[in-house]
Amino acid sequence: MSDKIYIFDTTLRDGEQVPGCQLNTVEKIEVAKNLEQLGVDVIEAGFPVSSPGDFNSVVEISKAVNRPTICALTRAVENDIKVAAEALQYAKHPRIHTGIGTSDFHIYSKLNSSPEEIIERAVAAVKYAKRFVEDIEFYAEDAGRTSNEYLARVVEAVIAAGATVINIPDTTGYALPDEFGAKIKYLTENVKNVHKAILSTHCHNDLGMATANTLSGIMNGARQVEVTLNGIGERAGNTSLEEIAMILKTRKDLPYHSNIETKRIYKTSRLVSTLMRMPVQPNKAIVGRNAFAHSSGIHQDGVLKNRENYEIIDPVDVGINQSSIILTARSGRAALKHRLDVIGIQLSKTELDTAYDKFLIIADRKKDILDEDLVLMLNLKKEDKHKITIDHLLVISGQTPMPTAIVRLNVDGKLMEATSTGNGPIDATFSAIKKILNKTVVLEEFLIQAITRGSNDLGKVHIQIKSNEVTYYGFSANTDIVTASAEAFLDAIEKTGLRP
Ligand code: KIV
Ligand code: ZN
Repeated sequence: MSDKIYIFDTTLRDGEQVPGCQLNTVEKIEVAKNLEQLGVDVIEAGFPVSSPGDFNSVVEISKAVNRPTICALTRAVENDIKVAAEALQYAKHPRIHTGIGTSDFHIYSKLNSSPEEIIERAVAAVKYAKRFVEDIEFYAEDAGRTSNEYLARVVEAVIAAGATVINIPDTTGYALPDEFGAKIKYLTENVKNVHKAILSTHCHNDLGMATANTLSGIMNGARQVEVTLNGIGERAGNTSLEEIAMILKTRKDLPYHSNIETKRIYKTSRLVSTLMRMPVQPNKAIVGRNAFAHSSGIHQDGVLKNRENYEIIDPVDVGINQSSIILTARSGRAALKHRLDVIGIQLSKTELDTAYDKFLIIADRKKDILDEDLVLMLNLKKEDKHKITIDHLLVISGQTPMPTAIVRLNVDGKLMEATSTGNGPIDATFSAIKKILNKTVVLEEFLIQAITRGSNDLGKVHIQIKSNEVTYYGFSANTDIVTASAEAFLDAIEKTGLRP
């Protein structure tokens, strides 16, 4: 007898909170539709009261998606709940996710409250939410550091008030697997009305134990798990959807299953990584570039004799086509289209033609083209929408003379040029750009990543700037890192809405 584990995906809420990972409504709808096809049971679509954009995304996702429950997050605050209910009006299966902190840290130093008052507020929030929808999930924030006795009191009270799902988040990723499992077990044994609700895990990965803690939760009675694609989320992230789904599929000795259509995992993982511009670490379990790569001679020999000598998962089961086509400058449009299909990107004929031209330029400079190159290549399309573009960029690097940049920008059709020096070619380029645009922005963070391999690689640049006390993010990728840096800087500057 195998128990179903409900998969609650929070990529679009906890995942999307990560700086630089924000999606627009159209992109969120695309992710939500893919999550539906992937087979998730619940999609947490956003936190409607937090911004008009989040509100709108919950409305549109509710319209676009049919089968999964659509969930909206709130604090234990009436207005949050009312706004969430409004955002969920088109959802075929709406759920309000409300909650409050229950650890001593949260009760005393965040909420300046008392244990009794927290229970009253929790109960009031659930009762209020129940006026709008039937399905109410309650989260006891920082449950990982909440005493089991007090947590049991909170849980019993909110179930009595009408909560249908109880989320036990390890908000700070502090719990150990045995401890977290024991917490779930304690609740199943000590909350007298626990059979009226489903217990859910929501683990963060600060100590690298999110998946272990989630599994321990399942083994001790949790029947819903809150996860994200690629494990993205606040700080070190959340439990990875793909890891839990593949544990349940691979370890057939465990009496649990999920409805995840595992062959869609890779495609959906790539889509999220592309849209959120968040590279997946090469050694990431299940979806990393190296997850199914065998490099040592002994392993290769063993795999050739019998795949199972060194592989516990058939890559085909997660949607990775073993006989993948290697793209080179000699590949045609059909090969490019095939590879894009595999990584979850569908293009119209005209878009494919444009992508193919860009592909040939990169293929001329690079020996073999990896998925990451394609993804970045397509992201570059976004530059076309920019009102400020680089018309000319020449940098002189080295000790003498000082690193110098000559930059000519096309600003809304008008060409403007400046020359500047700096402590390096990028510093000189940024200084010339600031001169042209006459802007005072503070560079807060600057990150260059060579995300594939080799000196002919594409460099990916993330930038964080501050203007008038507001933070803006910029991104670009190019085989020339000075150009990528300049483009990312302009991308961020444009978002300030400032014009010279
Ligand atoms: O980590 C957490 O506690 C959360 C809650 C809002 C569910 O994300
Ligand atoms: Zn969380």
